Amino acid sequence: MASLKFASLEENHIERVREIETLSNPSPWTYESFVHEVKNPNGLFLVANAGDTIVGYGAVWFVIDEAHITTLAVAESERKQGYGRQIVNALLEEAQERGMTCATLEVRASNSPAIHLYESLGFTVVGTRKKYYPNNKEDALVMWLYNLGSLDRGQS
Ligand SMILES: CC(C)(COP(=O)(O)OP(=O)(O)OC[C@H]1O[C@@H](n2cnc3c(N)ncnc32)[C@H](O)[C@@H]1OP(=O)(O)O)[C@@H](O)C(=O)NCCC(=O)NCCS
Repeated sequence: MASLKFASLEENHIERVREIETLSNPSPWTYESFVHEVKNPNGLFLVANAGDTIVGYGAVWFVIDEAHITTLAVAESERKQGYGRQIVNALLEEAQERGMTCATLEVRASNSPAIHLYESLGFTVVGTRKKYYPNNKEDALVMWLYNLGSLDRGQS
């Protein structure tokens, strides 16, 4: 498995990030949402490079001692190579270094690949937000990793 190189989101990455986002997220973020993340002092948005190409990204907001994962995607042609796991691990390692003790996220109830990934890292489903996603009124599962120190990094 190739190792990814991570960089903080810059404005010149947004075009490529949006290409991946449009094909990965049924409710894609707007251009402005990405621009906001470039300078968000309470968050970290990482782009993941394999060689010279951005193959995925993920982001986290820091809220007191909680790391909120806000987005994650790997380009469709690059999936199932361990990249998603590497991205989440990179986000959570940085969160731990910044003093976060736990992590949380919402995921579509139908999104088995993402749910499996998060469960394999130690997240558990703790609740449901009914009709959370506006595009199709799908429920969100709320997942938590209560102890970032217990993160199971898997094979990355
Ligand atoms: C979710 C996503 C980021 C996973 O990325 P990936 O690079 O393919 O994931 P990895 O190769 O690192 O896989 C890690 C684990 O995720 C799970 N997983 C990944 N794809 C899976 C699939 N199609 N079916 C079931 N489990 C899957 C497995 O547990 C896998 O571990 P394993 O390979 O040891 O079995 C990717 O499918 C994606 O971008 N989806 C669209 C966007 C999205 O749903 N983002 C999450 C929003 S909450």
